[in-house]
Order: sequence, then C-alpha cells, then structure tokens
Amino acid sequence: MPRYIVVASSNGLEAMRAVVEVLRGGGSALDAVELGCRLVESNPRDHTVGLGGLPNLLGDVEVDAAIMDGRTRATGGVAAVRGYEHPISIARRVMEQTPHVLLAGEGAERFAAEMGFEKTELLTPEARRLWEQRLREAEPDLEPGLVRYHEHASRYLGMVRDPEQAAGGTVNFVALDTHGDIACGVSTSGWYFKYPGRVGDSPIVGAGLYADNRRGAAACTGRGELAIRGATAHSVVMHMSYGRSVDEAVRLALEDADSLPDGYATGLNVLALDPQGNHAAASNRAGSTYIWVSDEVAEPQQAPRILLGQDPHASPPPH
Ligand code: GLY
Repeated sequence: MPRYIVVASSNGLEAMRAVVEVLRGGGSALDAVELGCRLVESNPRDHTVGLGGLPNLLGDVEVDAAIMDGRTRATGGVAAVRGYEHPISIARRVMEQTPHVLLAGEGAERFAAEMGFEKTELLTPEARRLWEQRLREAEPDLEPGLVRYHEHASRYLGMVRDPEQAAGGTVNFVALDTHGDIACGVSTSGWYFKYPGRVGDSPIVGAGLYADNRRGAAACTGRGELAIRGATAHSVVMHMSYGRSVDEAVRLALEDADSLPDGYATGLNVLALDPQGNHAAASNRAGSTYIWVSDEVAEPQQAPRILLGQDPHASPPPH
C-alpha cells in the first residue's frame, strides 16, 4: 500500500508535483487537493476552470467548486460565483467557518469578500474568443447531445450583452495522505452553454464529489446534470462500501448515470480511490485518461479510464 497517493483528472498534470510535495512533507490530503485545484484555477490555458474559463450564455464566467474532508465528511461548496479566482479556497472557508455546506451566487461572493478574497476578472480575451467561436460556429461532426446544446443556446443568443461577444470540463483531485486521511476537491467553470445561474455537479456533495476515510472517495467531470441525477460520486463510494473493488465501483456507478434518458448526453467521467490506495476511473467516451502519483513512483502516471461497455477484465486498470 502506498504511504500517500493523489489521483486527478488529466488537466491536473501541471499541478501534480506541487500537490505531491505537500503529501511527501506529511501535509494533509485537504491541503493537497486545495492546492491542486488552486493551481489549475490560476492556469489561463485551461478553459474549463477558474481564470480563463469559458463563460455562460451571457458572457460571464461563473464558477463552482467544493471540497470534502474524508475524516468527518465535512464539506464546503460555492456555486455560480463570479469574479473570484479561487472558488476552491472559498469553498474551504464555507466548510471551516460557516454552519453551511453550500453558498451560491451573490451570497457566496459577499462571503468571499468578507473573507478577504480579491476580486478578479476571470474572462480572458482568449476564452472570450473561443466561447464566441464555439457558440456561433459549431464544429462539424458534433455528437447529438452537443448539437442539441447548440440548438438550445442559439435560442438565447439575443441575450448576449455585447454582440461582439458571442463547452465543459472540470478538475478533480482526490488524495490519501500519510495519516491515512482522504480528501477530495473539484473546481469548474461549467458548460459554456450554461444558462446564467446553472449549477453543475461539482459543488454538489454526492454528485460531483464524495470522500469518506472508511470507504474511499470519488469525483466527476463531464455532464454534471447526469452526475447529479445519478448521485454518481456517492454511488461509487457506496459500491466500495458493499465490497466492490474500485474498478467495479466506478463502472457500476457510471453505467447507472449513463443509462438515464438525456437528450443532451455528452461525456461523463468518474475517478476514485479506496482507503488502501487502489484507484480507477471510468468514462462513457473512448480515449479518456486520468493521472496519479504516489510515493511508489517517481513521476505522475497517466492511465486509461475504463470505457463503459467494454469487458472490465480485458484490460485491468493499473493500481
Ligand atoms: N461537471 C461540471 C459541470 O457539469 O459543470
């Protein structure tokens, strides 16, 4: 069993070394996942999270994030927040300094200001250009769910404030520290098609993330509406608590969410870690990967996600 390990969505790669340093030094899983999310939130080249994230239908970047402590199942989240670069840290303050688990919109922004977070413009010129291009000139050969998203969005384009202004992603970190504690962090700017005020799975405990020292942790990326309807992250952890291996658990939970009727269906992914440091991830789309690193390997490792519909025993996931 590794002494410590961190598992992340592949867009967490650049942050992995810093995250591992926290764990190597005996730091907490909670600090590690917060740092990982913060680094991705500050990366303007990642158009799915924080600074540089693609905006909503009105051209405003609205971010969601949450963090969960597997020792106590304490959690904090923020949703539909504008103008703050580090929603994951605001979420942690919600967990540690309020009697609540989730703050949204203006209330979350007011709380961030009270906590001393500085306001930032999250919409970069590059994100704005990409958003405009994707909304107005949908790429050919889109899958049916994305075509429907574009049709839906086109009904609202008249709302766009600036006619010169006019999709999805997220980052997941799950860590097990040298004290045997597990934590999970998720941060996103959500779908570029999203109606203002839309909240995805990322700040919703049980949907986008779940962490429990006794059973393990899981986190999702992709079509959040499906992860909410399927309570996907919690389902993974429940499957593990009923004795399923981590690879069986991610497959079963994702299969359940993926079976829901959904005209806008697109990619949905989940990754998970058990208390012994075994990990796996699954996706309903081919070619998706995740990353992990522990005290037992020198460099971050990239691994394939189990593809739904594929024989899970044909290519066992790496541990
Ligand atoms: N999974 C991120 C979102 O749906 O917003």
